[in-house]
Amino acid sequence: MNPATRWLSTLMALFGRNWITMIGTGVTTVCAVLIIAFLVPGLMAMSSTPYVGIFAFLILPGFFVLGLSIIPVGVYWDHRKKVAARRRAEGEAVSHYPTLNFNNPVVRGAAGLVFFLTVVNVFIISSVSYRAVVHMDSPEFCGEVCHTVMQPEFTSYVDSPHSRVKCVECHIGPGAPWFVRSKLSGAGQVLAVAFNTYSHPIPTPVENLRPSQDTCEECHWPQKFTGDRVRVITNYSEDETNSALQTVLLMHIGGGASRGAGIHSWHIDPRKETTYIATDEQRQKIAWVQVKEADGTVTEYKAADSELTPEQIAAAEKRRMDCLDCHNRPTHIFRSPARALDEAMTKGRIDVSLPYIKKLGVEVLKEVDAAGDVRTQIEQRVRAYYGENYNELLESKRESVETAIAELAAVHKRNVFPKMDITWGTYPNNLGHEEFPGCYRCHDDSHSSANGEVIRQDCTICHAVLAWQEENPEVLQKLAAQ
Ligand code: HEC
Ligand code: HEC
Ligand code: HEC
Ligand code: HEC
Ligand code: HEC
Repeated sequence: MNPATRWLSTLMALFGRNWITMIGTGVTTVCAVLIIAFLVPGLMAMSSTPYVGIFAFLILPGFFVLGLSIIPVGVYWDHRKKVAARRRAEGEAVSHYPTLNFNNPVVRGAAGLVFFLTVVNVFIISSVSYRAVVHMDSPEFCGEVCHTVMQPEFTSYVDSPHSRVKCVECHIGPGAPWFVRSKLSGAGQVLAVAFNTYSHPIPTPVENLRPSQDTCEECHWPQKFTGDRVRVITNYSEDETNSALQTVLLMHIGGGASRGAGIHSWHIDPRKETTYIATDEQRQKIAWVQVKEADGTVTEYKAADSELTPEQIAAAEKRRMDCLDCHNRPTHIFRSPARALDEAMTKGRIDVSLPYIKKLGVEVLKEVDAAGDVRTQIEQRVRAYYGENYNELLESKRESVETAIAELAAVHKRNVFPKMDITWGTYPNNLGHEEFPGCYRCHDDSHSSANGEVIRQDCTICHAVLAWQEENPEVLQKLAAQ
């Protein structure tokens, strides 16, 4: 036998026995070639849709394994048929198991080939499983596959301080048990999306979100915080010149784990445990707060308007306060029209010399019909307003007007998602007290303890207000001069 015919008969002996094995071999080979092609670095990066990843790392490997597993099924089926035929011809003495004669070059070749292909298959399966895990952990996978559902969170994420932190680092965190849990709940979510049974909007607070000790504190460890931080907030007024007013706060952030004044010092001191009872789903109405100190002192504060009886308090579900009770929007930050415009104007994306643009913008953003063509509505309103009141401006500041229209539409798109029933203010932000109750859910001077102490609202415990809505605040000029 020359080598070529020997290889051919080896291949035929292994894979050409019957149609089942041949289909299995065909499917496996095609998938293997495609998978190897996708494993080549850089090839995936050329495509911008997350579905390519699903195809390359989930669907193809599925068929690859299916093909692989039907090859032995075919071999076994074929073998049984042949044994049965030989038994009919030669009698029951024919043994069931084949005799492998390694003196036969075809058997030797087949054994070598099987060994070689097994190594290749193990390589393909392990690389592809690794890539599948990496791919499913990527923000593109989490944020873009179920596009409509995750669009609000993905959009806010991309534009946030955490846009280089992966979704899974906050939503799953390290460790195998949470990985498995997340994949199980992920499978449920895929079904919910497929059958459109998910809620619009996705309800918050997120049930079973991993405690922040295991996620946030992986990067922001409590001992790291210290001292004060200056915050400068710029608001544009709703007057003709959109005057810029600045508020300067000296935030007393303070350190974790060390005693001393400050927000974190008090609230994330591991020696203190603050628990509370909320009477609404979004945890906006806090009826009861308890603080347990290291020395065993327990103080209970009750809201003045709370009608909870001691039995109800004992039976109610209590939550232990952690980072997320204040930082519930570290990444998915949705802004109000006024805040979003302040930001756009500060960043120079809207020309502040356009008269009344702040007032007009806020009105237009609140009033457009989100289900309709938002951009056209904004364009018509803005042009109509300037046409009526500042006609020459449509020509002299043509470009500014156009940019403003585009930015207003973009602001709307970043914050309002009609398909998920998300509009201005759907998700409260608990950091602060200006637009949502936030800190004042407790710090309202009316949650009081049995001996008359209250959770204080003193303006100086959290920050010093160095300037409040001032034009060119003196304190900033002083700082700049130094
Ligand atoms: C820095 C941490 C962090 C990152 C990164 C992050 N999230 Fe979140 N996410 C949160 C927190 C905290 C909440 C909880 C909000 C609550 O319970 O009120 C949340 C809530 C959500 C919700 C519920 C709806 C909502 O807006 O509250 C969805 C959906 C979500 N995240 C998806 C994602 C996706 C998709 C990504 C990646 C593209 C991502 N998250 C990245 C911290 C994060
Ligand atoms: C993988 C690391 C990582 C994780 C996990 C993480 N963060 Fe961050 N966080 C960062 C980085 C990086 C920054 C940006 C620092 C900067 O801009 O100076 C940041 C910034 C912040 C800021 C300041 C934002 C600002 O406007 O200055 C807050 C608040 C914050 N994170 C809270 C959280 C909370 C709450 C969680 C948990 C839900 C969390 N982070 C999880 C890395 C992380
Ligand atoms: C009682 C509410 C509260 C709790 C609880 C809380 N924080 Fe904060 N945190 C704040 C406030 C308020 C600020 C200041 C925000 C500002 O400057 O605008 C802040 C600031 C930060 C910053 C920015 C710090 C800087 O120096 O720039 C990070 C990061 C942060 N917090 C992370 C965390 C983490 C992680 C936890 C949980 C271990 C946590 N916070 C718990 C209220 C809280
Ligand atoms: C669930 C209730 C609750 C919420 C919400 C809450 N706190 Fe507190 N906080 C308390 C209690 C109780 C105390 C202790 C009583 C006191 O000092 O008035 C306290 C004390 C403090 C102190 C220490 C005051 C001192 O003695 O120096 C600071 C600072 C503080 N909180 C900041 C904040 C900030 C900032 C927020 C919002 C981002 C916030 N807290 C939200 C319950 C809460
Ligand atoms: C329990 C803590 C706490 C108390 C008490 C408190 N504040 Fe604040 N305040 C905050 C936090 C947190 C922010 C938000 C900072 C940020 O935007 O990150 C804030 C923001 C502000 C702002 C800026 C609002 C804006 O434009 O965003 C002003 C002004 C302000 N506080 C004034 C006051 C005054 C006046 C009092 C007394 C009646 C007071 N605060 C009491 C925690 C507190």
